[in-house]
Amino acid sequence: MIHTVSTTPFDDQKPGTSGLRKKVKVFEQSNYLENFVQAIFDSIDGVNGKTLVLGGDGRYYNTTAIQTIAKMASANGCSKLIIGKNGLLSTPAASHLIRKFKTDGGIILSASHNPAGPDEDFGIKYNISNGGPAPEKITDRIFDISKSISEYKISEAGNIDLSTTGNIQLDEMQVQIIDPVTDYAKLMQELFDFEAIQQLFANDFKMTFDAMHAITGPYATTILEGMLKAPAGTVINGTPLQDFGKGHPDPNLVYAKELVDIMWGDNAPDFGAASDGDGDRNMILGNAFFVTPSDSLAVMAANATDIKGYKNGITGVARSMPTSQASDQVAERLNINSYETPTGWKFFGNLLDADKVTLCGEESFGTGSNHVREKDGLWAVLFWLNLLAVKQDSVKNIVENHWQSYGRNYYSRHDYEGLESDLANTFMNELEAMQNGLVGQQLAGQTVSYADNFSYNDEVDGSTSSRQGLRFGFENGSRVVFRLSGTGTVGATLRIYFERYETDPAKLNLDTQEVLSDLIALVEEMIDLKKRSGRDGPTVIT
Ligand code: G1P
Ligand code: ZN
Repeated sequence: MIHTVSTTPFDDQKPGTSGLRKKVKVFEQSNYLENFVQAIFDSIDGVNGKTLVLGGDGRYYNTTAIQTIAKMASANGCSKLIIGKNGLLSTPAASHLIRKFKTDGGIILSASHNPAGPDEDFGIKYNISNGGPAPEKITDRIFDISKSISEYKISEAGNIDLSTTGNIQLDEMQVQIIDPVTDYAKLMQELFDFEAIQQLFANDFKMTFDAMHAITGPYATTILEGMLKAPAGTVINGTPLQDFGKGHPDPNLVYAKELVDIMWGDNAPDFGAASDGDGDRNMILGNAFFVTPSDSLAVMAANATDIKGYKNGITGVARSMPTSQASDQVAERLNINSYETPTGWKFFGNLLDADKVTLCGEESFGTGSNHVREKDGLWAVLFWLNLLAVKQDSVKNIVENHWQSYGRNYYSRHDYEGLESDLANTFMNELEAMQNGLVGQQLAGQTVSYADNFSYNDEVDGSTSSRQGLRFGFENGSRVVFRLSGTGTVGATLRIYFERYETDPAKLNLDTQEVLSDLIALVEEMIDLKKRSGRDGPTVIT
């Protein structure tokens, strides 16, 4: 029985950098989820006769939302849903399933690395048939529809059983419950040389992978410990918990503390890695050595032909604007395409579809390739494992040799989380005003070569995305970039990105914060940030 329910709009359903993220309590308001889901369906001219993939990172509210969405899909005439067993699908695995089974799209339930639980965050996003996040023209339409929605459709059927793989029916709609790992693991096996990696582990190579109590646990255990025969215990925190063990599953030096302690401790493993809540982020560590995500992308691009799935070469590399320019150096030397896009994976989709780039990356621990249309945490880890097997060298040596060859882009991001929105907007307005007439002037002893609010023209679809972050660039290649986060759920987060390029072989192993200290001081001079925000310093430095 289909039920048409009258509803009234919510005014805050604007998708951010990666879908709609809110506190669980917000989603639990009557009709809140339903309105948004109906808005997604309506934004794509309905789901009648369509097939969708559905799954999430397993956080609190995941299965509740899946039951609601399934009933709404059925009531809206959807012909088939492919759902991960127990409602689980990592973001990259969902992207892969959309592509592999050529579905019309998919709905992914996740608030990525944000904490989970009844008082924490939940999120929902729509991915299109190429497997990637919906572009802005769709997310804008979803928001428009959400502002005037008056009814939604939902089936009155009971809950479906998510715990057993196989085919079931929900009214007229077919529901296929699949193992969340199998198809993804097969894809990884096609891209990487599993025999070489097995050999590496057989030769006493030691690794720790921290799944941070989130979605990559089952994927990492199957692939690393099962298929690649890494010793049991290689994967830690491998069981997904609804509250992610009350942690903050963001793979960086601050939040992946357990792993960091292991990698900087006695008898540290050769290789350490972590992924985030929904499995799309990655952190790469060597023995007492941190690889910045920007450098990781550059190293991957420089060595791609060593890896099975990329042995014929890559067409180009794209990075988000605030990501360091290290990959640009590689692209230039390899004479391949290089793109600078706004923050957010959705901007890579067109470039990947048009085969203008093969690898993409963001400074925010996101790396990926044309194998899916999301960033992919375990893929990055396997890429590095494969590289380590080929090079028979340490993570540290590989990166340091890269710097010797290409120069080093010293890079750091300082986040001020949970600022008053008004204050954060004031900072951005002041900084933007300062950009007037700044080119050619001196700041911190350096000549400003450009100062703008980044605007991106997508050469594939002709669209323009403006106001994507304030850039201050200097003649020596240094940069400072300011953006407000589009994924936070409380107040505003100001992100400041610092970069300095160095080629002097004697200056490639210095302390990053030291090297960037004049740029960091410059920001204080410009907006008196610490004093006005009442903070001692950034909440997180990466
Ligand atoms: C953050 C990252 C961005 C990433 C996004 C989704 O967005 O900075 O690179 O694509 O999360 O994982 P932000 O909060 O900065 O808008
Ligand atoms: Zn994520």
